[in-house]
Amino acid sequence: MINYNWNSNLYISKHSYVFKYGEDVVKLLNPQKGEKILDLGCGTGYLTNLIYESGANVIGIDSSEEMIKQAKQTYPQINFEIKEATNFYFKNKFDAIFSNAVLHWIPEKVKVIKCISDSLKHRGRFAAEFGGKNNVQNIVSAISEILISNGYAKNIKNNNWYFPSVGEYSALLEKHGFDVQFASHFNRDTFLDKGVDIKSWLEMFGGKYFSGIDSNKKIELQKLIMKKLKATNYLNGKWFIDYKRIRVLAIKES
Ligand code: BEZ
Repeated sequence: MINYNWNSNLYISKHSYVFKYGEDVVKLLNPQKGEKILDLGCGTGYLTNLIYESGANVIGIDSSEEMIKQAKQTYPQINFEIKEATNFYFKNKFDAIFSNAVLHWIPEKVKVIKCISDSLKHRGRFAAEFGGKNNVQNIVSAISEILISNGYAKNIKNNNWYFPSVGEYSALLEKHGFDVQFASHFNRDTFLDKGVDIKSWLEMFGGKYFSGIDSNKKIELQKLIMKKLKATNYLNGKWFIDYKRIRVLAIKES
């Protein structure tokens, strides 16, 4: 995960749905015993361990020192390394590369696809899920409105989430020698646990929007954003995040 100060405890305690939903992507990957697999942006290693349990020979990489430290402590039997998704290379190529809930953090998508391609065997597979077109759109709109109306319009450009459409991302993969076997875009409104609110989500994931703003002001802005979102992202006493996912399975052909 890129350029972000990750709080691995907050991630595990309040936002574990991010990696739990990834279990379906592991099914799409369909890891086989003895296969060599890379988990790109492994975070705290939950899904890396699922892949490991299939009997595959898996390595997890993540750019966050904090996440890798936590992953190594929890799963000492697995090999984890600190590496950037835009700058990795493995001489011994992989049968498959897996990635869950990571690629939307990385606007340099071509660099990522090139690294993936360079580290895959011929006919190796790439199975991934991340934020697709219009992901968290209510939240993005509310943040923008509140930042603008409070004199922080310049902070909007700090954000660089990448949420492509299926068409855009499939075309990019094809351009770089992949055969896209499966691609889907779907809604996944996700309820936060009772007692966890949008402020907690913003604290965990929305950091760049608030960089440079002092902490009291930030809390005030987050409260205003939450108030705005009550009309769209709050139901039966619980907050939900308007996630849209893109899921792909592609084979490296050249
Ligand atoms: C996502 O998983 O879609 C996501 C997470 C944090 C920020 C933006 C999107």
